Amino acid sequence: MIIFGASGDLTKRKLIPALYNLYKDNRLPEGFAVLGIGRTGYRDDTYRTYIRTEMERFVASEEHAGGRMTDFCNHLYYLSLNPAEAADYGNLDARLRELTGEQEPDGMLYYLATPPSLYGVIPLHLKTARLNRPHTRIIVEKPFGYDLESARELNRIYASVFEEHQIYRIDHFLGKETAQNILAFRFANGIFEPLWNRNYIDYVEITAVENLGIEQRGGFYEGTGALRDMVQNHLIQLVALTAMEPPAVFNADNFRNEVVKVYESLSPLTEEDLNEHIVRGQYTASATKPGYREEKNVASDSRTETYIAMKIGIDNWRWSGVPFYIRTGKQMPTKVTEIVVHFRETPHQMFRCEGGHCPRANKLILRLQPNEGIVLKFGMKVPGPGFDVKQVMMDFSYSDLGGLPAGDAYARLIEDCIQGDQTLFTRSDAVDASWRFFNPVLKYWQEHPDAPLYGYPVGTWGPLESEAMMREHGAEWTNPCKNLTNTDEYCEL
Ligand code: BG6
Repeated sequence: MIIFGASGDLTKRKLIPALYNLYKDNRLPEGFAVLGIGRTGYRDDTYRTYIRTEMERFVASEEHAGGRMTDFCNHLYYLSLNPAEAADYGNLDARLRELTGEQEPDGMLYYLATPPSLYGVIPLHLKTARLNRPHTRIIVEKPFGYDLESARELNRIYASVFEEHQIYRIDHFLGKETAQNILAFRFANGIFEPLWNRNYIDYVEITAVENLGIEQRGGFYEGTGALRDMVQNHLIQLVALTAMEPPAVFNADNFRNEVVKVYESLSPLTEEDLNEHIVRGQYTASATKPGYREEKNVASDSRTETYIAMKIGIDNWRWSGVPFYIRTGKQMPTKVTEIVVHFRETPHQMFRCEGGHCPRANKLILRLQPNEGIVLKFGMKVPGPGFDVKQVMMDFSYSDLGGLPAGDAYARLIEDCIQGDQTLFTRSDAVDASWRFFNPVLKYWQEHPDAPLYGYPVGTWGPLESEAMMREHGAEWTNPCKNLTNTDEYCEL
């Protein structure tokens, strides 16, 4: 495995811990080697020392004792080169021959964990150096493209270097156990799917918010923003998992065909949608924390969005008329990813509101993180006189199964790639379809530099204008509790 961007943030935070988890569970091939590539001038030994130190921060503490982390590091190698420089790839070729002992090494797995500006350059240089051999695979991080045009150009470049079956466009949300479980929940049970349509569902909310800012990633984030960083990939994948039809057979082609069908059914955004059904925001300083514009490597007049809320529609038989409200934001009150399915109310209310409670519509919450689990809210008679009906919940929590292993998403996806399973990776036509839907948003912002960008103080639930968008539907955002420490906190503020 060759990691481009080996001295970067993603490598130490996600890739190394994932590889280590696979290693300790004996899920990596015998004699595997990871060759890190970057411009920083490490040697094999200094890179191992650097990674070993970082592992103390990013690998679970119970692993720190004993020699396993050091044993793992002995499988790491490093080559300092400039990935943008074609001439440097001769050194890569030589190093691969030396490490494999083969004249024409094949079967490499390239991982592009670099800034997105290199996603198009590296494959072309690999091709020139004839390192795109038939059994190699390449994993490329998101965002795949900056807009529709650049995504198409990237797809063209990749298709000129590799076959589609060698290309793994990663979206780590699909590697999450809880995201995959949406499919099991929907398609391995007979009782939910008959209700899963416009006849019974009123609207759907998808929230993926964080209580952190952009950390040290100002340079990256300035040129990216929430739409490209979260919405065009992670959030729309969750829409697809929630809205897709059941594939007849569960395999990569059939599953990905259904994802593409959802993207192709997204109602094209009208001028009215662009004006009224998209709210973008940027966090501003609170008493204790800096605003986005005060962050390192961020322009003092930046108009990059750190929050976005959108109403989207799906034009097909199942979903016509059911709005999907999606939102993401940095520096919100908490970190939570969840899907809330709001069912329609009963056609007639037989019980009056007594004792301060009113019967309400059923609600299903699929909590992807934290406190991973599923909750169904339903009405129940309060014991005693009269008919006081109150909302209660039935819940399933992963903690009852012993919890989920940390860092599972990247480990799962890397292992899938090693095994040649593309199911959970984005196909070229899905990238295209998703960008076709979102491109008008980027274009609109570009053509209307004065389109509103609302400020919201750090630690709040984003611009109030996003509530106005929900009110049109007689709804409001479901804001989970600030303190998500135990399972009974599926409450609303
Ligand atoms: C990444 C984004 O893809 O996903 C980050 O680049 C974001 O900005 C992260 O913080 C969120 O992922 P998770 O798994 O922590 O919810």
